[in-house]
Amino acid sequence: MTTPWWQSSVIYQIYPRSFQDANGDGIGDLKGITQRLDYLGGLGIDAIWISPIYPSPMADFGYDVADHCDVDPRFGTLADFDELLAQAHARGLKVLLDFVPNHTSDRHAWFAESRSSRDAAKRDWYLWCDPAPNGGPPNNWISDFGGSAWAWDETSGQYYYHAFLKEQPDLNWRNPAVQAAMYEVMRFWFDRGVDGFRIDVLWHLIKAADFPDNPPNPAYRPAMGEMHRVLQLHSTDQPEVHALAAEMRAIADSYGIAGLCERVLLGEIYLPIDPLMHYYGQEHAGVHLPLNFLLIDAPWQAGALADLIAGYEAALPPAAWPNWVLGNHDRPRIARKLGEAKARIAAMLLLTLRGTPTLYYGDELGLNDAKIPPSQVQDPRELREPGLGLGRDPVRSPMPWDGSENAGFSTAPPWLPLNADCHLRNVAEMTGERASILALYRRLLAVRRAHPALAIGAFALLDSAGDVLAYERRHGTQRLIVALNLGTDAQRLELPDWASGCRLLLSTTAEALLIENNMLLLRADEGGVLAA
Ligand code: NOJ
Ligand code: CA
Repeated sequence: MTTPWWQSSVIYQIYPRSFQDANGDGIGDLKGITQRLDYLGGLGIDAIWISPIYPSPMADFGYDVADHCDVDPRFGTLADFDELLAQAHARGLKVLLDFVPNHTSDRHAWFAESRSSRDAAKRDWYLWCDPAPNGGPPNNWISDFGGSAWAWDETSGQYYYHAFLKEQPDLNWRNPAVQAAMYEVMRFWFDRGVDGFRIDVLWHLIKAADFPDNPPNPAYRPAMGEMHRVLQLHSTDQPEVHALAAEMRAIADSYGIAGLCERVLLGEIYLPIDPLMHYYGQEHAGVHLPLNFLLIDAPWQAGALADLIAGYEAALPPAAWPNWVLGNHDRPRIARKLGEAKARIAAMLLLTLRGTPTLYYGDELGLNDAKIPPSQVQDPRELREPGLGLGRDPVRSPMPWDGSENAGFSTAPPWLPLNADCHLRNVAEMTGERASILALYRRLLAVRRAHPALAIGAFALLDSAGDVLAYERRHGTQRLIVALNLGTDAQRLELPDWASGCRLLLSTTAEALLIENNMLLLRADEGGVLAA
């Protein structure tokens, strides 16, 4: 059986506002991404996923889409996109877009029509409800960005539902006309040649039909953010969502050649393992990759990580392909969580586990969260619930390319501040350093590409003790061992008999790993890949 490209691929996420500005307005754009394709090809990734590029009032920086089938002038034009796609494909890189089906911008023509009157033809394209008997919102649902999830519309005398900002009204996915219109959007981009989509908040698409109150969350503390006051029992993850995912899958697979899935769907789904697995669908009729965010919040402890990996692997439906995520545009950076030394081990973990990894731009430089002075906060998440550390600007700082002014990102002051260490922590500087985390990422990606055992091979945890996490990757006769010391003391790993005489392929440090009589010695924060 041939493996589809996305199973052996590493997907690199680009936040387009922050990657490269080509026209000097301080905001990244499509031409900028095209200019940096050689960097991406050289890094050794296989595909890019670009966060939304569509026309948008930018209330949520592009996740409020005003037209799904065009490009925002700040990012360029459809022609710029076609050029980017052609240039990426010429380098063997696949291109994924962000599909935002749950909601639109309140400036979308559909919503303008929908809110124009109660009898509007598209009234039923969004979720309109009468007030509760006391005149307040129809139920207790809370926006993910805080506050009631219902906004009052004076003109038509009803509330509309918004899981995020009031500028992001939710579409009514129970309406077949909405389904048809959004499936057309997928076809529009597939016909243009995109290789797949990351689907925004897939588990939100369907809400309980009669909008019952959500139950209170007994674990709620104010520091968690107001959305956690209730459990999203009725507002998310409804059984009917799976039929929609199946439709999307069928559309994507209809572009396949000879039964191979050529176009891939990644579903953004923040759910515990069991409900998450349902998004693979019965008989593979769900999305190809329901995104697995388990590593992001995992404790950095060998036993806990081994349990988490084993639990995830065991829960996968037959023949479902795993995936792993260390960071994205919504969550704190891995270097902020762990510091650089451990972020190197995390890089080796991400790129050697079984499954498709997504790599967030800048993590290959070990970027930390940037400091954002209060006067420069942009993210509505932070502006609505300040001071809780929920804001996402710190993880969206511009990519530092070199030591020049504005770090080579732009000729103008960037839309968000650069990281304070960008004169040292940048692509040009770190490319010259053999021991840099960037060099480690390049080596890891090269070793992964050269070894089917890493890209598509089987996975088995190895017995280990203390702070060591160790596993085998195997494909045919190729057997590799990955051993990671997550702790700050030296550790030992007894190698299995079959690994006697193994050789080091790659270590996270500049030094060679020590092997003595079938005992692997790992220094603090050291990891390695060994070939038997
Ligand atoms: C999830 C996206 O990742 C996030 O950035 C966005 O704010 C919400 N969905 C709303 O679209
Ligand atoms: Ca620009």
